[in-house]
Amino acid sequence: MLSVKDLTKSVQVEDKTLVLLQPLNLTIAAGESIAIVGPSGSGKTTLLSILAGLDLPSSGQVYLKNQPLHQFNEEQRSQVRAQHVGFIFQQFLLINSLTALENVMLPAELANMPDAQARGEALLTQVGLADRIQHYPSQLSGGEQQRVAIARAFIAKPDVLFADEPTGNLDSKTGQYIIDLIFDLNVKEGTTLVLVTHDAKLAARCQRQVEMDSGALTEPMAEATLANTEENQPDSQTTTHHDLKSKTSVSQVG
Ligand SMILES: Nc1ncnc2c1ncn2[C@@H]1O[C@H](COP(=O)(O)OP(=O)(O)OP(=O)(O)O)[C@@H](O)[C@H]1O
Ligand SMILES: [Mg+2]
Repeated sequence: MLSVKDLTKSVQVEDKTLVLLQPLNLTIAAGESIAIVGPSGSGKTTLLSILAGLDLPSSGQVYLKNQPLHQFNEEQRSQVRAQHVGFIFQQFLLINSLTALENVMLPAELANMPDAQARGEALLTQVGLADRIQHYPSQLSGGEQQRVAIARAFIAKPDVLFADEPTGNLDSKTGQYIIDLIFDLNVKEGTTLVLVTHDAKLAARCQRQVEMDSGALTEPMAEATLANTEENQPDSQTTTHHDLKSKTSVSQVG
């Protein structure tokens, strides 16, 4: 589903080069759930943005469903995102000029789903916002905005869901409910989950945990997996482009 090879990210700040991500390798299988943990400033959000096709690496390769995101321009990446990716990012919350419902419907409309409105209303009800669907983001609390973003991330039944501290703004009861929703998606739809979290309980629910520290990635449980990435070229994966298309349209029906 996702494969990263020798990925780095550096930024130029005045006359200095700041290394945000050290060369890192990671392979995530379809249907897997993985937690990225680590201290503040270690590069988790930076990595997630690149994996989700929101940002580009400085060097190295990122394949999402065999598509080389590192070679794609913004428009090509936005197409990949519309077809395959859901994301819950604190910095990319909602569009202020759209109502809650319109925000949620947007990915479904981009994916040409016929029942966007009905699904949007159902999802907003599921996250407890049935009586807020016509509200604009400025009329919603931080936690409510986050729940709208979660409904939006789910609507197009993405192949991969990226979430950056998805329960960060929520009280523990709502947070637990949202976590259950996210893992339901993983089990019922086979959605691959990539979660950044400081919440040990949430991390423990994922099949795998990796840790970022100063821009470097360590995977305590699976050194062997990292070593194997050399031979694990994305091209060798069996899913063909044709399979992807048929899978996409099937997943859009329900
Ligand atoms: N555009 C940028 N220019 C300069 N420095 C940046 C930029 N983006 C991120 N950084 C720096 O890169 C480092 C990693 O940032 P990142 O947001 O990935 O951390 P994080 O692990 O998500 O932290 P947190 O847990 O606090 O959200 C930080 O030190 C941050 O200040
Ligand atoms: Mg972050």
